[in-house]
Amino acid sequence: MYRTHTCGALRLSDVGKTVTLSGWVAISRDLGGLTFTDLRDRYGITQLVFDMDDNAELCMQARTLGREFVIQASGIVRERASKNPNRETGDIEIKVTDLKILNAAKTPPFTIQDDTDGGDDLRMKYRYLDLRRNAVQKNLIFRSNLAIETRKFLSEQGFIEIETPNLIKSTPEGARDFVVPSRMNKGQFYALPQSPQTFKQILMVAGFDKYFQIVKCFRDEDLRADRQPEFTQIDCEMSFVHQEDILNIFEGLTKYLFKRTLGVDLPDFPRMTYDEAFARFGSDKPDLRFGMEFVNLSDVAKGKGFPVFDGAETILAICAPGCAHYSRKQLDELTEWLKRPQIGAKGLVYVKMEADGSIKSSVDKFYSPDDLKVWTDRAGAQAGDLLLVLCGEDEKTHKQLNELRLEMGTRLDLRKGDDFKPLWVLDFPLLEWDEAANRFFAMHHPFTAPKADDIPKMESDDIQVLKSMRADAYDLVINGVEIGGGSIRIHDRDLQSRNFKLLGFTPEEAEAQFGFLLGAFEYGAPPHGGLAFGFDRLNAVMNGANSIRDFIAFPKNNQGRDMMIDAPSGIKAEQLKELGIDVRAEI
Ligand code: AMO
Repeated sequence: MYRTHTCGALRLSDVGKTVTLSGWVAISRDLGGLTFTDLRDRYGITQLVFDMDDNAELCMQARTLGREFVIQASGIVRERASKNPNRETGDIEIKVTDLKILNAAKTPPFTIQDDTDGGDDLRMKYRYLDLRRNAVQKNLIFRSNLAIETRKFLSEQGFIEIETPNLIKSTPEGARDFVVPSRMNKGQFYALPQSPQTFKQILMVAGFDKYFQIVKCFRDEDLRADRQPEFTQIDCEMSFVHQEDILNIFEGLTKYLFKRTLGVDLPDFPRMTYDEAFARFGSDKPDLRFGMEFVNLSDVAKGKGFPVFDGAETILAICAPGCAHYSRKQLDELTEWLKRPQIGAKGLVYVKMEADGSIKSSVDKFYSPDDLKVWTDRAGAQAGDLLLVLCGEDEKTHKQLNELRLEMGTRLDLRKGDDFKPLWVLDFPLLEWDEAANRFFAMHHPFTAPKADDIPKMESDDIQVLKSMRADAYDLVINGVEIGGGSIRIHDRDLQSRNFKLLGFTPEEAEAQFGFLLGAFEYGAPPHGGLAFGFDRLNAVMNGANSIRDFIAFPKNNQGRDMMIDAPSGIKAEQLKELGIDVRAEI
């Protein structure tokens, strides 16, 4: 038997027992007469003691133990003289009587503890060592529980888990596909699914009226902290439902998951239309953990002789609480931050409401104190607050002020990881105009149903009319992160064809790409809709983490590389030949 207990199991009540533990040497300290070794496994750390006076040979053997050696130690549990209150096993230690080295280890390239000294690349290259760290193990155990609880909830609600294929034809979610060459069909390629979208709709046609799947999706897009090329969705679809039914089920799932895994009771989720979210926060995923809502000053700040504002389409402000003390240097730094190409603001105007109630601004030359008081009143500014004002084109200014709002929220420590503010964002536009491509793209995906009242607008040639169409599409946002999105689908062949036409597909292209779905719609497609949660993002947000990589066992780096297995990599000429790919393509 390798072990009678794990390294996290023993307590004072076990004193006197003879036990055997197996695990990794976290650290070994040789104090002359005594050698102390911390033995670690995924359950905890237990202190082992070797006593020179009792057994010199054993103690000499213990001195040879290096970090990360795998050992088996037997001995007697005894109470510790100096206890460690930070460890669950901190009241006891094992006086070792027998030691076996099961496997030696090279010195690891970084320390395996919560605050490791390993940089990102090193940790990813030696991910098996990184995964031994308690902080990472905790995340993966959380993820496992979250998946189990998801399955419990959905199966109790009558959902059936059905797997869909990974070798498919491209799904139009808007990112690039990863493609896989077919050996048996030379010159042809499968695509890895960006989501199981079309398959789940086909399952509705087949009559499985509640489907779910915890499923890998693949998208070849630029990577960020919240984006991986392969990621996991909780993907769902339901038949004979309206938007309200779907929101209720998945609000229920979210509340259940927070309660079961974190013990947190979430209140009912507020709702906001896309237009409202954009007007109030400049974003379709507002972080509601703090205020600083947008204040529109366009009507009161124009026409006073300040050319920059007079020529601007929109003038917007936020009120940063308690920031009137910002120095010239701090404001200059904030202005430079806003001017970076990633944000692209032209400049920043500020208005300080000093502690004594007096008002000072960077535009005192153009505005009287009474003028500025109208602004601060509108923003609800209190003594000590700072108004930050941006201007420019309407949409751009909203987006820039959104960045500034989030930055100020971070600087003021208003975005706490254990404060959860969910929100449904509803009524997304159906179409998004792409200036460069001179065409419409689907804002969600091409199968999303327009709102019933907007269907007649589909016949219009007017871009503005088409832009104004709303869809039965919704997102779940938590703490400013898009956790999930979905829609009611089109289930009528003619309407779907009309939508493809708006998206620039010829009837032939639509038939070639989606003929199977259009065909299925002719055989009794029920009204249906669904949504998908980003499972990695849900894990990260629930734990107040910024990066989803911390919740993925083997993530890719920002260049899309797996540093451990060194992928992607070139392949052999024979392999390429067998696949019918020009051998000159070999790298
Ligand atoms: P959507 O494209 O909005 O919808 O994706 C759903 C959710 O998946 C997560 N997500 C990602 N997570 C990590 N890395 C990525 N690269 C990534 N891309 C998306 C997000 C997102 O909200 N088929 C539709 C759903 C539906 O209509 O039912 C879909 O995939 O959290």
